[in-house]
Order: sequence, then structure tokens, then C-alpha cells
Amino acid sequence: MKLKHIYKEGKNEKVLLLLHGTGGTENDLLPLAGMIDPEASVLSVRGNVSENGMPRFFKRLREGVFDEEDLIERTKELYEFLDEAAAHYGFRREQIVAAGYSNGANIAGSLLFHYEKSLLGALLFHPMVPRRGVDLPDQTGVPVFIGAGENDPICPPSETHDLKSLLRAAGAHVTDYWERMGHQLTEQEVRAAGEFYKTQF
Ligand code: MLT
Repeated sequence: MKLKHIYKEGKNEKVLLLLHGTGGTENDLLPLAGMIDPEASVLSVRGNVSENGMPRFFKRLREGVFDEEDLIERTKELYEFLDEAAAHYGFRREQIVAAGYSNGANIAGSLLFHYEKSLLGALLFHPMVPRRGVDLPDQTGVPVFIGAGENDPICPPSETHDLKSLLRAAGAHVTDYWERMGHQLTEQEVRAAGEFYKTQF
């Protein structure tokens, strides 16, 4: 398969798709899966774009400015990889819940912006609006958790508000969770995402 990844079969039907931040690897978010749903299968992917040796899921022109063409291409690649992984490992494609941080949250958001039924739901930690000025596919009833920091210099609050409105307009069921923190992923927000997950899936 095209993307480097780890797959661990779980005890229930859910599959947690883990997507790391810039400079991360497929190992980074493994503890998060244990906190959110220890019984779920885990599919943790490494971004195949390198920015000075730091893995990412798509190219950017500079911080906060994405290479849209590459974003579209890599989103398609990940979407196709999910189909392939479901067939290869024998899990149900429609049971995938993404959990992504920063750049990983942005590609998860991009899946929702470009493909209907791409995810059963998503836990997005410090995401941005992946693309502007596009019509989103129908995401009716898709649960989305957004973890945000009031003082996040990379994802300012306006990004979170815009992302929430765009996803809601497409029908998604969005909850945002705020902390007085910056861009870091906190244990508390992962726990809040875990509570959201329990009520939704
Ligand atoms: C991105 O490039 O996806 C965002 O700026 C977040 C990050 O730094 O990875």
C-alpha cells in the first residue's frame, strides 16, 4: 500500500484513523487511541510529504498557506488509501473515525470538504479551514469535534469559527471545545474528545 502506516486490529467495529502533526510520525498519536476508544482498530498513517525532513500530509507555501493543488491531490490519495486499507485488512470502510492533530486535522478536514461519506466522524485537534470558496459535499449528521486554543497562533479563533460554520452548513453535527492554550494538544482536550466520541459513536 502506498502510505506508510500502522494497523492494529481491535475488538469492536470502529477504526480510528490517526493523523499526526507536522514533523510527526505514525507513532505519535497511538496513546490517543487508547484514551478515546481502546477497543477500536487503529490505522495510523504517516504523511508522505517531506518539509525539510518533517513528514506532512500535504505541501504548504508557508505557515498557514496551503498548496491547494497538492492538498487536493493528497486528499484523494488518502481517500483511496482508506478504501484500499479497508479491503486489505477487512474492516468496514464506513466505520472510520479520524483523529488528527494540526496538519493531520487539516487533511481530515479536507476529506470532509471534498468527499461525501469519507468519514463516519472526525475529532479535529487545532484544525484550520482547509480550503475556502468551495461547496462542501453533504455531511448530514456527521459528528465532528473541534479542539481549539484561545491563544493558538497557528489556528486563530476565527479559523475555528469559520470551520464550524462551514461544516454545520454542510449538515455536520459540530461541537467545539476551547482551552486557554496555544497550539499544543492537551490531555484535557483529548479527554473531552473521548466524551464526545462516547456519545456519538
Ligand atoms: C498546516 O500546515 O497544516 C498548519 O499550518 C498546521 C501545521 O503547522 O502543521
